[in-house]
Amino acid sequence: MISLEDIKLNAVPRHIAIIMDGNGRWAKQRQQQRIEGHIQGAAALKSTLEGCLAVGVKYLTVYAFSLENWDRSPQEVNSLMNLFVNYCHTEVDNLNKNNIRFKAIGKLDMLNDECYRVLKITEEKTKDNTALTLVVAISYGSRWEIVHAAQQLAKEIACHKIQSEQINEQLFAKYLITDFMPDPDLLIRTSGEYRISNYLLWQIAYTELYFTNVLWPDFTKEELYEAIADYQKRERRFGKTSEQINHKLK
Ligand code: IPE
Ligand code: IPE
Ligand code: MG
Repeated sequence: MISLEDIKLNAVPRHIAIIMDGNGRWAKQRQQQRIEGHIQGAAALKSTLEGCLAVGVKYLTVYAFSLENWDRSPQEVNSLMNLFVNYCHTEVDNLNKNNIRFKAIGKLDMLNDECYRVLKITEEKTKDNTALTLVVAISYGSRWEIVHAAQQLAKEIACHKIQSEQINEQLFAKYLITDFMPDPDLLIRTSGEYRISNYLLWQIAYTELYFTNVLWPDFTKEELYEAIADYQKRERRFGKTSEQINHKLK
């Protein structure tokens, strides 16, 4: 197992995104209700946050609930909403103690009032923290986010605030709800699934992908270090050749 000492602290990904998958299967393996897997998943997030702080990751974006997840049973959806509310209530002091800024992204107007309110309060209470930004994607879908950006741009054009010729990648990205954060350097998906499931499609154009069979509730900071060590072995070329990249470094 990789430990903290194996991580090169000068080459840590600035932004890690995680698709926290496998909670249901974790619970099933133990003959428990799916919500027990989600509860244990919140504990795994705690360990992951500790790991991020220890190595100096600046942004951690976790997929907690997708727009597609609204189609799950009302019972599971309700339990998850309650879990988000409880997480904010119980963790806000801890987030402040650890200098972690909390942000929620997604189609938040679909959430119930209580959930929406507590997310906004947690954002407000932690807004000045600087060690790490924890971004929780809730009621999030990447295609929705891109369409939403296109709608906003169309409105700006209609009222002559901008002209269509001005639209380029930089401007478009400003209309995404993730405009406050850099693109992820590393994306981790747990539970042995090899897909993106409508997560950060625009933002992961050049992100390194890491898949592990570990179910999310079993994920720990050691698993995180493993993923970071793997990332550190890779060469990010951004379309260039290996020679070009290495020449630039000299
Ligand atoms: C991920 O775990 C958490 C959410 C999608 C809310 P799942 O609930 O998808 O767990 P599996 O994939 O059924 O094991
Ligand atoms: C992706 O997991 C969403 C979250 C982890 C919140 P899913 O379990 O919903 O994804 P699929 O359905 O297997 O693609
Ligand atoms: Mg799943």
